[in-house]
Amino acid sequence: MPVPGSLTTAAHTDFELEVVAGAWPNDITGEMVFSTVQNSRKLDAAIFDWGAICRLSLESGARGAAAGRFAWQSRSIQTPSKRLFDLHPELFVGSATGYQSPFGPSNASNTAPLPWGNRLFTTWDAGRPVELNPDTLEFVGEVGSIDSWGDSSMATAGVLPFLFSSAHPVVDPERNCLWTVKLDFVMEPTFGLRPAVVRWDPDGTTVKFWPLEGIAFSSSIHTVSQTRNWVILADSGNFKADPEEIFGGERSVTIDNEAPVWLIRKDQLDDLASGTPITPIAFMMSPSVGHYYARWDDTDGISVVWEGMDLMDLGFYLKPSDLDVNGKAMDPDLAGLYNMAMAPETIVEVQFDPATGKVMEQGSYKADWTFNLQLSAIDWSTEGMSRPTLHHVSYQGCRPGNISDRAARLYEGRIDRDIVSRETPGALATFERGSMDLKARWEYTDLGDHITSPTFAPRGAGADTSKSSYSGNQPGGHDGYVVQPVQNDNGFRIELFDAASVGAGPVAVLQGTNKECVPMVLHSAWMPARYELASAQRLKFSSEITDARLASVAEELHAAIHKVAAACDEI
Ligand SMILES: [Fe+2]
Repeated sequence: MPVPGSLTTAAHTDFELEVVAGAWPNDITGEMVFSTVQNSRKLDAAIFDWGAICRLSLESGARGAAAGRFAWQSRSIQTPSKRLFDLHPELFVGSATGYQSPFGPSNASNTAPLPWGNRLFTTWDAGRPVELNPDTLEFVGEVGSIDSWGDSSMATAGVLPFLFSSAHPVVDPERNCLWTVKLDFVMEPTFGLRPAVVRWDPDGTTVKFWPLEGIAFSSSIHTVSQTRNWVILADSGNFKADPEEIFGGERSVTIDNEAPVWLIRKDQLDDLASGTPITPIAFMMSPSVGHYYARWDDTDGISVVWEGMDLMDLGFYLKPSDLDVNGKAMDPDLAGLYNMAMAPETIVEVQFDPATGKVMEQGSYKADWTFNLQLSAIDWSTEGMSRPTLHHVSYQGCRPGNISDRAARLYEGRIDRDIVSRETPGALATFERGSMDLKARWEYTDLGDHITSPTFAPRGAGADTSKSSYSGNQPGGHDGYVVQPVQNDNGFRIELFDAASVGAGPVAVLQGTNKECVPMVLHSAWMPARYELASAQRLKFSSEITDARLASVAEELHAAIHKVAAACDEI
């Protein structure tokens, strides 16, 4: 059975959920926010379509829900580029990095929600972070002026920039800033992308950036991680653009078996002028990853959970004409989704030693069921990141119905067709930090269940004012709940687990009152409920419209630009 068809066919709607099994605990608070796409099914890769934010209140009766029910809300992210699209959809065409138009490239902001204190941001790899109002979920502004980012990653016409960045910037609780990256197309030392570390201080409209001298690579930096003293960047070898495919040819690029990692000391940037090149400490890691998470406290070493994506090619999208790995015609509704994992995934905790350049493995886990390591649930409070205890991971199982014969042929010699031709169930698993010992596992035996984007909700968050606002009673990942969304064509469910005993199964299950389905969701995050927009200095779209940028757009389109700028000025 392939993944549920409702991932691509369900509509974005608001609805209410009710408890259908177990008892909803009264010590869970806050909200779960999801990034997702408004999949028009007009782009080759659905993950480049316009972003939406979905929100599930974890408290019954909140956000307008009836008593005893839980609100699900979905809102389109109305960036300036989306507003221009709404005025002139005929001028936007799909590309390898989302919609392009005479106004410039688009910021779909569809990949990850990023709560930060009392503010909420959303992100994606091919644009700046976007701020939303955490109460209404309306667009508020984009992060950092184009000029302060050092201009577009490659020269483009229009009033919208192309800022190739990261879907996972990280919040520094000590410096009170955001660390992310910018990737510039360069010709030296080879043709490729040169990364720069980017810092944004939240009450301002400019960022600072420091290019990594002498480095050019060919994929992306999907995640930025950190310890107290270091910023950690890694080449996401799992997502590679194929120039031949972009121009209509057959895909021949494959993902890497290992990828470079770069460490940069934060204090070397403290007084360094923006734009000054820096030299990082380089390592190699295998397998390649999309996501990795460092322990904040680096007193005893730079310790990082490496969520391996062995043979998961996220840039390989399915086509309507595809056959699956067993030779069956694929459901055309799956077109645009990515080709799923072609090997079980390895999760590993490692220590990077900047003095010797060595990577030391502390513990790892891989079994025949660890297919499609999707996403994890972590205690993101400063205290939880300092002393993490448990790491919860959703595995979607082997899905031969989502592995194309084209991909299996392209990866011939690197995959075992016998293994990837058999379906296995999904599972939510708990690992001990450090050893990566498997502590608990809950299996989803119904192959129609597609588990996705879990999050950790701390118990007693905000109760102790001596702790950070996202911290629960006992930080680290064991004291609280794992919220596990389950997509199924018979209705979307939310399953709630006690984080200390995931193996005991869910303590409560929510389902839509009309068994509603939801579209594919990408990352999720937990945050305390916020009912107002924090005051801060924010970037206005109108301030980005210089004479030179305006002159690069045909005059008959200027009215649309001014209309969008005026509407954004009123936010
Ligand atoms: Fe991600």
